[in-house]
Amino acid sequence: MAAVFLNALVISGALAVAAQERFPKTPLVSKHFSYPSGLPYQADDEDLLRGTQFGYNRCNSSTENQQSLCQTSFLNGLDDFCLWGPSKPNSLIADTEGEEVAWCTKPGRGTRIIPADALKGVQFMRTPDYVQVVGFIDQTAINIARGDSGGELDPHGADLRGNPLGGLMYSNAWSDSFEQAIEWHNFMGGDAFCLKVCDPSRPNAANYCQHIYDRIGCAYNAPNNAKEGVFESCEGENQDFPGVYTQDGRVLTYTQPPEALGVITSVPYQPRVPASSNCKQFSSSALYTNAPGSVAPMSLAATSSTASPSSTSKSGGSQSQTDGESNDATYVVFSAITSILGVLFSALFLA
Ligand SMILES: *[C@@H]1O[C@H](CO)[C@@H](O)[C@H](O)[C@H]1NC(C)=O
Repeated sequence: MAAVFLNALVISGALAVAAQERFPKTPLVSKHFSYPSGLPYQADDEDLLRGTQFGYNRCNSSTENQQSLCQTSFLNGLDDFCLWGPSKPNSLIADTEGEEVAWCTKPGRGTRIIPADALKGVQFMRTPDYVQVVGFIDQTAINIARGDSGGELDPHGADLRGNPLGGLMYSNAWSDSFEQAIEWHNFMGGDAFCLKVCDPSRPNAANYCQHIYDRIGCAYNAPNNAKEGVFESCEGENQDFPGVYTQDGRVLTYTQPPEALGVITSVPYQPRVPASSNCKQFSSSALYTNAPGSVAPMSLAATSSTASPSSTSKSGGSQSQTDGESNDATYVVFSAITSILGVLFSALFLA
């Protein structure tokens, strides 16, 4: 009897261990799916420590509504990108990072649509190694709680299942078809966002889209000069790899301290905002015509395809960076975060 009992204990113990398994058979960054024909229902099809994938990757017209749980995302251009956000109103990114869903500017891909007027300024940047959108948003419109300083979404996570689990990213920035981007990072929070998607054919995709600096936000991970109220599409030079900086002629790498050491109150460098050029500005109503709640007047609908880019107020639209000035958004994003929290960086800016 004792032996049988012991056996049962051992077996149930083994089952408990199995149910607690943390890592998937294949990390998310090693899963490649062609779009749309190769999309699985769920990129993450396992039931492990963090449970199962919250939504799905095969999205279509019947999943296209504001309750969509589509977790297939895009970054194609200023008028055509998605951000990761919670499925339910008033959520914290830190509580929902594993289950964010895609909120997109354009219909047609089975996702939720970012409501009209939620976007308050967006800069799209194309560089040799990545495409990026950085901007300002009423984050409550995509279910992020007011005042949440947010955190980072990326296809890694401590258990290699991604945040969100199974979240996939595609872009047509590098060819006529949608290519899966293996490396990307998206910071959401403080009524601001940055999403960088790295060209999978380039050798430094994982470095430019580095995911380990999850506590220091857009200013350090995606240094930019995006401005509130401005919607523009630019070309630019590459940033430095996040965490890598040059001081007194030496190239140094910052180490982000563990959370156990408390709030990060200073970082030993100012990130370099790379030069940008050829910025073309647009009105948001010409860009985001299909947002729920947007009213597209007949006249606007008739002219939206010919919205003419205007040059920036800075002459020539060229905004090369000089020391210590004009990296406006770095400071805007900074001050948005600091004014909410009263600290330089928030410990809440979690993975
Ligand atoms: C649409 O996508 C959903 C979710 O992946 C799936 O359950 C449904 O079968 C699809 N419908 C069609 C018509 O393909």
